[in-house]
Amino acid sequence: MARALLVLNGPNLNLLSQREPDTYGHEKLPDLEARWRQHGADLGFDVNCLQSNHEGVLVDALQEAGAAGTPIVFNPGAYSHTSIALRDAIVGAQAHVIEVHISNVHARERFRHFSYVSAVAIGVIAGLGTIGYELAINAHHTYLTRTQ
Ligand code: DQA
Repeated sequence: MARALLVLNGPNLNLLSQREPDTYGHEKLPDLEARWRQHGADLGFDVNCLQSNHEGVLVDALQEAGAAGTPIVFNPGAYSHTSIALRDAIVGAQAHVIEVHISNVHARERFRHFSYVSAVAIGVIAGLGTIGYELAINAHHTYLTRTQ
């Protein structure tokens, strides 16, 4: 049976393709989600994709996936730089998170250099565009294969 995996996207990532395309690319979120679902399926994952502009919805999703032992690929968007609540949800639910940023946040404004999520994530991928999500799915797969 396929193992569940959650791809979780935070605020403004619903605007992919319209929003700063030089930074975030020209692909639309639904097309990307279809690609990630297929990529996950090839590795034996049943990928569920969720995007929300609301911090509390993201907290609920982290708690639920954490409780179920579902691995998570998470782009917290701007909440990366502000949200102690997301960090606490990951720790509280013992959620297995790989953090992804489409852009290289370290090459951008100073306020993007710090993420509350990074210290409680298994790892972080930034600056590789939307391929970063597929790399994070690969990483979860390898990590699960080696640890279970
Ligand atoms: C982002 C980087 C964040 O700083 C920004 O607020 C985003 C997207 C990225 O994917 O590069 O919304 O997480």
